[in-house]
Amino acid sequence: MNYAGKYPAARPRRLRQSEWVRRLVREHCLGVDDLIWAMIVHDGPEPAIPVTAMPGVARLSVAGAAEAAKRAAKLGIPAIAVFPHIDAVKKDAEGREALNPGGLVCTAVRAMKDAAPEVGIMVDVALDPFTDHGHDGLLRDGRIVNDETVKVLAEQALIQVKAGADIVAPSDMMDGRVGAIRAALDGEGCQDALIMSYAAKYASGFYGPYREAIGSGKLGGGSVANPGDKRTYQMDPGNSDEALREVSMDVAEGADMLLVKPGLPYLDIVRRVKDAFALPTFAFQVSGEYAMIKAAAANGWIEEERVMLETLLAFKRAGADGIVTYFAPVAAETLV
Ligand code: PBG
Repeated sequence: MNYAGKYPAARPRRLRQSEWVRRLVREHCLGVDDLIWAMIVHDGPEPAIPVTAMPGVARLSVAGAAEAAKRAAKLGIPAIAVFPHIDAVKKDAEGREALNPGGLVCTAVRAMKDAAPEVGIMVDVALDPFTDHGHDGLLRDGRIVNDETVKVLAEQALIQVKAGADIVAPSDMMDGRVGAIRAALDGEGCQDALIMSYAAKYASGFYGPYREAIGSGKLGGGSVANPGDKRTYQMDPGNSDEALREVSMDVAEGADMLLVKPGLPYLDIVRRVKDAFALPTFAFQVSGEYAMIKAAAANGWIEEERVMLETLLAFKRAGADGIVTYFAPVAAETLV
């Protein structure tokens, strides 16, 4: 690389002296087109139930989600990612409710597509919102079984796409699920449905508040702060090369888009994945990242809007094409 010139002839600060020149030379920018709105829905009548560990986020009823989809359309947010909180009585060890075409996810998807057909709807493919043990897969003798789970996930994805979901996003980290989902979709004429694979998803403490959001707090002793132990399927935070292996398998199996999760602590992974595969790559700013910003801002320790925008821009700088974030509607409002 040619860094022409030496001080005092070269003065990098010349390029920072006023806003017009900073705007002119800025390498990366954040826009509404970069946002996927992470949204929690619930199956009760209350329009919005606040999530304590995520101030500003509420679980929305199906009607509330339809209204939110219209809001997304107005704000220009391209897509919404839906996560369900279902009534505990509907949960069982097998997560059977995941395969109910009349269940919460499918109902919400239909309502949102009716309300705002121009907004892309993404759904999570995993069993954790539906199992009473809170794991993403099927438990047999204390182990999460891979291949049996994959069969259920493929069925779940097909049901979601038939309800109108545009993107299925397997977040379970079972081996071989992207290929199985692609085959199931194509076998039923759903070859246009997109797959965004949670290709590199780490076993992370940052998912804590999400436990409260979807009511899967039992895992790990019921504490919101303890996201439980998914280390036999989610990736080890010490690994980086392994992310490339995971991604390459998902790409070979038919993933259209890739997702790295969590976000900010894994920007190095975003960069490596983008550089290695040059495919649409997204980052998930997860519940714990959101909660930390909100908590520090509530204490007056950071400026919320500034830090929110700075973190979202950091994803772009790291190579992400977009960000799944609970901040999406607020960020969109400040960007327009
Ligand atoms: C699980 C799933 C999780 C999230 C999205 N899908 C939690 C987990 O893997 O344990 C986390 C989202 C967040 O923390 O915002 N299928």
